[in-house]
Amino acid sequence: RLAGTRHYSNGPVLPPKYETLYNKYSEVRRVLGAQRLTLAEKILYSHLDNVESLLTDTAGGRNIRGKANLKLKPDRVNMQDASAQMALLQFMSCNLPQTAIPASIHCDHLIVGERGAEDDLTAGIKTNHEVFDFLESAAKKYGIDFWPPGAGIIHQTVLENYAVPGLMMLGTDSHSPNAGGLCTITIGVGGADAVEALVGAPWELKAPKILGVRLTGKLNDWVSPKDVILHLAGLLTVRGGTGYIVEYFGPGVDTLSLTGMATACNMGAEIGATTSIFPYTDASSRYLKATRREQAATDAQLLQNFPGAGSAEDAFFKFKADEGAQYDQVIEINLSELEPHVNGPFTPDLSTPLSKFKETVKEEQWPDKLSAGLIGSCTNSSYEDMTRVESMLKAAADAGLKPAADFYITPGSEQIRATLERDGTLETFTEAGGIVLSNACGPCIGQWKRQDGVEKGTLNAIFTSYNRNFRGRNDGNPDTMNFLASPEIVTAMAFAGSTTFNPITDSLTTPDGKEFRFPAPHGLEGPQTPFEEGKDSLKVLSQPPNPNVEVAISPSSERLALLEPFDAFPSSDLSGLRVLVKITGKCTTDTISAAGPWLKYKGHLPNISANTLNTAVNAATGEVNVAYDLDGSKHTIPDLARKWKEEGRPWLVVAEHNYGEGSAREHAALQPRYLGARIIVCKSFARIHETNLKKQGMVPLTFAEEKDYDRIDAGDEVSTIGLYEMLQNGGQGEVSLRVTKKTGEEFLVPTKHAVTKDQAGFILAGSALNLLSKGV
Ligand code: F3S
Repeated sequence: RLAGTRHYSNGPVLPPKYETLYNKYSEVRRVLGAQRLTLAEKILYSHLDNVESLLTDTAGGRNIRGKANLKLKPDRVNMQDASAQMALLQFMSCNLPQTAIPASIHCDHLIVGERGAEDDLTAGIKTNHEVFDFLESAAKKYGIDFWPPGAGIIHQTVLENYAVPGLMMLGTDSHSPNAGGLCTITIGVGGADAVEALVGAPWELKAPKILGVRLTGKLNDWVSPKDVILHLAGLLTVRGGTGYIVEYFGPGVDTLSLTGMATACNMGAEIGATTSIFPYTDASSRYLKATRREQAATDAQLLQNFPGAGSAEDAFFKFKADEGAQYDQVIEINLSELEPHVNGPFTPDLSTPLSKFKETVKEEQWPDKLSAGLIGSCTNSSYEDMTRVESMLKAAADAGLKPAADFYITPGSEQIRATLERDGTLETFTEAGGIVLSNACGPCIGQWKRQDGVEKGTLNAIFTSYNRNFRGRNDGNPDTMNFLASPEIVTAMAFAGSTTFNPITDSLTTPDGKEFRFPAPHGLEGPQTPFEEGKDSLKVLSQPPNPNVEVAISPSSERLALLEPFDAFPSSDLSGLRVLVKITGKCTTDTISAAGPWLKYKGHLPNISANTLNTAVNAATGEVNVAYDLDGSKHTIPDLARKWKEEGRPWLVVAEHNYGEGSAREHAALQPRYLGARIIVCKSFARIHETNLKKQGMVPLTFAEEKDYDRIDAGDEVSTIGLYEMLQNGGQGEVSLRVTKKTGEEFLVPTKHAVTKDQAGFILAGSALNLLSKGV
C-alpha cells in the first residue's frame, strides 16, 4: 500500500525536510511491517541510505539491534573549532567544491577563561586568529555556517538554531547528543566520520541496542534534570551505555524542561552511550517558540498529526516510541525519590547522593575547602539553570552573603547571555562577585588560567556544573578534584566555600551572625519574551559556497599543516612490531591526546603528536609518560614513538579496559598512526575511538582472554597471524598475535575484532580518507 505512494497528496503538505523523513519512514514501515519500534529506531532507520538493507542484513528485519551495520545519511554536520580543523583539512583533500549536506563551525574551544568575557575573548582572538581565519575562509569556500569566537558553545548553539525534531545530525564533539533533548538523533564522531557525511558518503554505525529509562514522578525542589544523569552514570558506569542509545520515556518526561532533557542527553556521553533521546513534549514546542522557531513547532505539530504514516497504529509522528516497543534493558527512575548527586572526583560515574556526600568526603579524606565553583557551559547554562541560581543569589544577597569561593559563570551562547543580561540575571551574578566568562568552553576543556594562585601539584577541590571531570581536565592540574553537580548545588557549595555543605539541611552564618538557609531554588523554564539575538558581531556568517575563496594556511604555520596521506596496508601480515608501552589504568582520549595548551596544535599533526600518551601510566614501572627503548634507555612516550618512527620500527600499544574513553577526539587515533603505530590491543575499547582508529588505518584488537594482558610487555616483538586475510575477506576471520619475548620465549595471543567490510577497506587503503579521496 505504501511503497512510493503519495497518499497524502490531497491533504496538508509537509515541509520538504519532513516529506523526506515521512517517505523514508513509510518505507521502514513497509519493510518492517507492524514491528513495534522505539523512537530512536524510527528516526535512525528513516535515515538509512537503503531501507531494504534492514531485511538483507538481518533475519528478515527481526534482529537488527547489535547486528546490522546501518549505512546512514545524516541531515547535517556540526563541528567545533578544535576538531573542525582536522575535519576540514581532510575534507580539502577530497577536492570537492562544497559540502554535500549543511554544516556549521563553532569557535568555542580555543578561548581561555581567565579574567572575564571581554578580555578573554580579545586575547583568544589574538592568539588564535590564524586558526579562526582558516576556519572562516574554509567556511566561505565550501558554504558552511560560521559561528565566530564568542558566539557560543557548539551544543547550545545547535540546540537553539539547528535542532528540530526528527533530524539526524553528526557532531565532531562527544557531547553532541545534547540535541537529543529536542528529539533528534545526534551522534558524536571524529573528523573522519564527519568528512564521510560531508562528501555525501553513507556513514556506518552498528545498529545500537536501546536502553530505556522510564521516568515517573516529578523532581523535588533541590533536584534538577542533571541529577537524573548523575545518578544514571553511577548506576551504569562509564562503560554501561556502550553500544546503546539511551531513550527516555514514561510520564516523568512530561514534567521536564526542554533544556533539562538536553542536559541529560549531553551527559549520556559519560556512560559511553551512542546517543540519548527524549520524546517530543509540550516543553519542546515551547522551546522552539522561545528560540523564535515558531515554524518548526508548527511543522512538528503538522507531522505528528499527519494522516497515515503507515504503521498499524500510525504512531510515528507522535515523536515517541510505539506502544509496547521493546527495550533491551529498562531502568526505572522515580523523579520524586531522586535526590541531588555529586559525581567525582576524576571520573563522572563515581556518584554520591548529596545526603551522603559529607560523610564520603571525610572517609575519603577529600579536601573540605572548596577553591572554586563554576557553573554554565554547554551542559548547564539554560535559562532555567541560570534563573534558579539567580533566586539563590538574591536570597543570599538579601542576607548579606557573598560566595566564599571563586565563582565563575559560562553562558552557553550569545543568545542566552544577551537574554540573561536583558532580564537582569547577569547583573545579579556580577553583584554577587561572580565572574562571567565568554560564551565559550574555557575551563571546561582545560582552558582555565586560574587566578587564585593554586599551583600545579596542589591538591584542591572545585565544583562544576560541567559534564566531565577527568584528571587535569579543567586547569591542567592533575591534583584538582572536580566534583560534578547541578548549578544549584555548585552555587551553594561556592557560598559555603566547603565541599561538605548540604543546602537542604545546613545553614550559613550571615555577617550579622544570623543563621541563613537557602530557600529552595526556583526559576523560569524560559524567558517570558523570546530569547534576545545578541550582538551583531557574534551572529552566524551564512553564505553559499564560493570557489574563489582561498583557504588560509601559511606554509610556515606552526598551527596548521596540510595532510600527507598515510601508507596503504602491506600485502601481507604485519611483522617486526614492538610494544612501545603497556599502559595500566584508565586511558582516555585526554590521556592519548591531551587538550589544554595542546589545543592550539589541532591543525598541525606533527606538532600535536608531541603530546601522544603523555599522561599514560607505564604498567611495568607506574611512571607517567615514560617508555624504555630496547637498549633500556629511558624516554618520554612521544619521544620514543618519534624515534621508532624515524628508525622505521612499527609499534603497538597494550592497554586495559575502555581504551579511548571520553571523546570523539580523532587526534587520539591520528597521532599514534602518524608516529608509526599499527595496532592497539586492549581489554576493551570505547566505541567512538575504536571506529576512529579504523578510519585512520589502524587495527583495534581486544584480548580474547583478558589474562593475556599480563603476559605481554613493553619491548616484546609482535607479528600478526590472519590479519591480512581477515582484511581481504572484508572483516571475516580470526586474528592472533605471535609474541616473542626478549628471552626468546614465544606464544600466541588470540584476539577479537569488530572490523566491518567497509572498515577493512579503510585499513587496507591506509585510511578512510585514502578511499574517499579516490571517490570510492
Ligand atoms: Fe565545550 Fe562542552 Fe565540550 S563546554 S569542552 S563542548 S563539554
